[in-house]
Amino acid sequence: MKGIFITFEGPDGSGKTTQIRLLAQYCREKGYDVVMTREPGGTPISEAIRSLLLDPSHKEMDGVTEALLYAASRAQHVAEKIRPALEDGCIVLCDRFMDSSIAYQGYARGLGDDVRVINEFAVQGTQPDITFFMDLPAFQGKQRVASARELDRLEQEDLSFHNAVYEGYQELKKIYADRYVCIDASRSIEEIAAEIRERFDAYVICRTEE
Ligand code: ADP
Ligand code: TYD
Repeated sequence: MKGIFITFEGPDGSGKTTQIRLLAQYCREKGYDVVMTREPGGTPISEAIRSLLLDPSHKEMDGVTEALLYAASRAQHVAEKIRPALEDGCIVLCDRFMDSSIAYQGYARGLGDDVRVINEFAVQGTQPDITFFMDLPAFQGKQRVASARELDRLEQEDLSFHNAVYEGYQELKKIYADRYVCIDASRSIEEIAAEIRERFDAYVICRTEE
């Protein structure tokens, strides 16, 4: 793979979408080819699955169905968009990836390690090079989105669910310490963006020297 695969993870409302846009702009100004994408979604089929997943009226959705739909959406996204872009040498910036499934479905829904297994199958070896973890307590993220937009099915889960998601990420940070970069997301948008740019530049220098 010639490209760089960067994912953004963290609780709802932690600032992932805001920061991914700023990093995309920075990378484009530096002359890189950038693909900015999101999960669930990123391709027509994956966006159709996203609508099924996030529809607040689908209250009866079973946890296993939910986990399989996220994985199916991801399989299509990787095959159709992410892997080809990486093969072309692009920087792929993805708003959430399989760690979200492990945190939300594996930890918070309590489905355990099966979630990692189905996602390993879905991504067929395509894994992030860097994961920016936007570290913000769940209640603060909830406060930010509550005032900003209509809540989707997952965002409507209660605070204990979102606290379990946060705990799941704490485990992921340890398991994938080699690629996790933990960002204090309680600061101003510009302070956070500056740190992300620094970390990105440091990674690129490191990789060029290899
Ligand atoms: P996410 O993609 O993680 O859900 P967003 O980037 O959509 O988060 O941000 C959620 C809300 O919080 C938006 O209204 C956004 O403008 C606001 N926001 C983003 N970053 C910050 C920040 N550092 N401080 C305060 N508010 C923020
Ligand atoms: P997203 O649009 O990124 O939400 P936000 O901007 O609030 O962070 O993702 C939609 C919801 O789907 C979000 O609540 C997290 C959840 N989700 C999972 O439960 N599993 C997954 O694998 C992914 C990618 C997202």
